[in-house]
Amino acid sequence: KNNAPKIKVSLIEKINSLLPRDIIDLLIKIANLADKTNYPVFLVGGIVRDLILGRRNEDVDVVVEGDGPAFASKLAKEVGGDIRVHEKFGTATWRLHSGLKIDITSARTEYYDFPAALPTVHLSGLREDLYRRDFTINAMAIQLNKDKFGDLIDLFHGYQDISQKKIRTLYNLSFVEDPTRILRAVRFEQRFGFEMDEQTFDLAQISVDKIRLTSKPRLAYELSRLLSEKHPVESLKRLDEIGVLNFLITVNSYDNSMIKQIKNFKLIFDNVSSQLTNPPTNVSQAWICYLVLLFSKLDNGFEQVNMFTLNNENKKTIEEIKALLEGKYHFSKNNTSGSLHHTLKNYRIESILCFTILKQFPNKIAENITRYLIERQAIPKLINGNDLKALNINPGPIYSKILQQIECDYLDKKVSSKEEAILMIKENY
Ligand code: CTP
Repeated sequence: KNNAPKIKVSLIEKINSLLPRDIIDLLIKIANLADKTNYPVFLVGGIVRDLILGRRNEDVDVVVEGDGPAFASKLAKEVGGDIRVHEKFGTATWRLHSGLKIDITSARTEYYDFPAALPTVHLSGLREDLYRRDFTINAMAIQLNKDKFGDLIDLFHGYQDISQKKIRTLYNLSFVEDPTRILRAVRFEQRFGFEMDEQTFDLAQISVDKIRLTSKPRLAYELSRLLSEKHPVESLKRLDEIGVLNFLITVNSYDNSMIKQIKNFKLIFDNVSSQLTNPPTNVSQAWICYLVLLFSKLDNGFEQVNMFTLNNENKKTIEEIKALLEGKYHFSKNNTSGSLHHTLKNYRIESILCFTILKQFPNKIAENITRYLIERQAIPKLINGNDLKALNINPGPIYSKILQQIECDYLDKKVSSKEEAILMIKENY
């Protein structure tokens, strides 16, 4: 245990410089009501950590020593907005008309057991709430009550762990109770350049088999968050070091060549994304490709990845990769962008690139595909259905065929204007 003298830390300056004005105003309104109703109220969790780190974070989580939902209802009455109460968890979500959202949780104090008693001032409820959390760096609070507004409450040395760049659990069974925290530990390590302390690392290693008992959607959620951050390859290596990968994938089916493939995928995906004028809005889909690559050597790899999908978008990416693998397409180093467009027009960037890696295409083909993906974002609509009607072509499936052909011809520089496109159609249809 650490016996360093406690220093009083005020985060008022950080609050003022890092949080938007409308959130600060709300925090002050919360403080006012808290004082009036005699409730101790705190900002907790990731936002406290990020304020100390000087990072932006607008996820406002508030803990009330007392009846959180009742407090939230009073807030809505005085300030406005709507309250949704989750009775079972003693929590409420306060939604303001501006779109801001604040989660309010009750700390389980004596107040609950003895409704007539005054709210405790010993912060036992807050302590209990914070102690149940994953890591010391996420288990700090900032008091909001007026005379103490901005004071850091650091019961488990989170502030020191931040300055020493340590990820530390609060109790030995933390990973056993919630094995997804192992993924979270790796995520925070990579995001902040921190490291688990020796004991936390050991606890992660010995708890790793509990991953088997964890529900796939919960794992998938934390995996997607981990793999969507900046360093997915390093994260996978770290997961392997802890022993997690063997419990995600059937034991022994994982080898280093997959990490290599994932590295290549990430390189080529980042390369293409960086050359897009409108970077894909679905970057978040890329993480599912890492799983496809990770599971690719298994007979039932796709089935297994499907168990880790979070939504239909994830499923669609997997379906596309499967379809590309099963399709009888012929790729050669002579493919033009136009000919690639014929085959790949309807597929997402990440599906195409994942397929490219899985097929281990020679460089020249991979380069063609990369070039095509960059070119295809800028295909203009030279003609539309009305133009075809004006050419007296009978509406039907032929329309999309012609429109697609013109796109391919544009990529192959055979047409570059509406007039040229119409001429081309007149000659061929
Ligand atoms: N938490 C936890 N155990 C988990 C998940 C969350 O103890 N398995 C706690 C942590 O205290 C965390 C808080 O709940 O700070 C909120 O979790 P989350 O929404 O995942 O946000 P952050 O930790 O803030 O992560 P991020 O910065 O990525 O949003």
